[in-house]
Amino acid sequence: MRPFARHRGELYCEGVPLRRIAGEVGTPAYVYSRAAFEEGFTAVDRALGKAPHLVCYSVKACGNLAVLALLSGLGSGFDVVSGGELSRVLAAGGDPARVVFSGVGKTEDEIALALREGILCLNAESEEELSVISRVATRMRRRAAVALRVNPGVQAHTHPHVATALPESKFGVPLARARRICRDAARLPGVRLAGITCHVGSQIVSVAPFAAAAGRLRGLLAALERDGHPIEHVDLGGGLGVAYGRERPPTPAAWALALRRGLGPSKLRLVVEPGRVIAANAGVLVTRLLYRKRGSARAFAVVDAGMNDLLRPALYGAVHAIEPVGPPAAGSVTLDVVGPVCESADALRRRARVPDLPAGSLWAVRAAGAYGFSMASNYNSRPRPPEVLVSGRRFWRIRRRERPADLWRGEVIPEVLHRERR
Ligand code: LLP
Repeated sequence: MRPFARHRGELYCEGVPLRRIAGEVGTPAYVYSRAAFEEGFTAVDRALGKAPHLVCYSVKACGNLAVLALLSGLGSGFDVVSGGELSRVLAAGGDPARVVFSGVGKTEDEIALALREGILCLNAESEEELSVISRVATRMRRRAAVALRVNPGVQAHTHPHVATALPESKFGVPLARARRICRDAARLPGVRLAGITCHVGSQIVSVAPFAAAAGRLRGLLAALERDGHPIEHVDLGGGLGVAYGRERPPTPAAWALALRRGLGPSKLRLVVEPGRVIAANAGVLVTRLLYRKRGSARAFAVVDAGMNDLLRPALYGAVHAIEPVGPPAAGSVTLDVVGPVCESADALRRRARVPDLPAGSLWAVRAAGAYGFSMASNYNSRPRPPEVLVSGRRFWRIRRRERPADLWRGEVIPEVLHRERR
């Protein structure tokens, strides 16, 4: 199925013209296809076959409650990296027993929340974190299930901002010290070492880094077995890339095969944490062309979606395909598609060859389902856009557009400043 396709020239999400959605909710707006989310999850889940496994969707990719509820209904677990994300999963009715909690900087409050809710496992990233987890758990009269996050030292050949397993990375503990740290962890009163985890990076478009990381964990797992640790699962993180342009990422089946081959014969439950591969192509950002203008060296199309709405192009130089929602016009022009934010970095696409369409025309930014809304901010005091979920011929607003009052929610003018003004 192609969740976004043209019928008589008009771009649709499933059975609904994007133009109709823009007419009802305005622009900019994120539009998601329910079927695409379902297909994305199912493809990953099926690829892992019959052997024991758990797909923990990475909430940071797209954490709208409706999306989480939808995936939870398909049996998905969740990978969270903050108390906020864990609270989202719970608010959406997700099963805490299927949640893993990663991140180098968990606070005591976040650890306590995770233990209170009974999540599957905390992915611990340092020796000091292990002792804090043990202390918090002991105080709560619990034993925390923990997986040690190991940095396998693998080149992911991806953007430096999203490579996480280099010797310079802050994530996990060095592989060479992992066995010793596990031995020490087993002596902590509040910790039960249940697994080993790693994550090599994001938007990885070949199987080699996954195979290499799994292969490095294989040796460690064998050593831990010899040391007598009752390890239950191995979590190989997320990172499978998608095609934004001409990339040819591995299929979920090829990726899963690389993971299994790298690990070798193993009875351990395999946990994975995919985000992008499930969410990216399930969403577009619909935006309206406001003005065309000519600079001295470039021509510009100013659209109503800025870097606060979709940060990826400004932050990573990411290239998202952009196309008109209506029938493409005959002529084409080369221009920079820029947003309204007061920053020169606020460009959706530089030097884009696009149809020559007038102000008022609608455009769709493709593959914006992952790390789109979830990285949106209120910079320039711009209300964040609405999110819409399409299912067949129906659609629902799953988040309304923010209003000006949302922008200063929680802000306070101290009484004395009021008085001084009088
Ligand atoms: N697990 C861990 C521990 C992670 O750090 C991440 C992503 C994932 C899973 C999910 O990775 P995925 O399957 O989505 O590649 N904002 C960036 C991506 C940052 C990814 C951070 N960690 C972007 O827009 O490209």
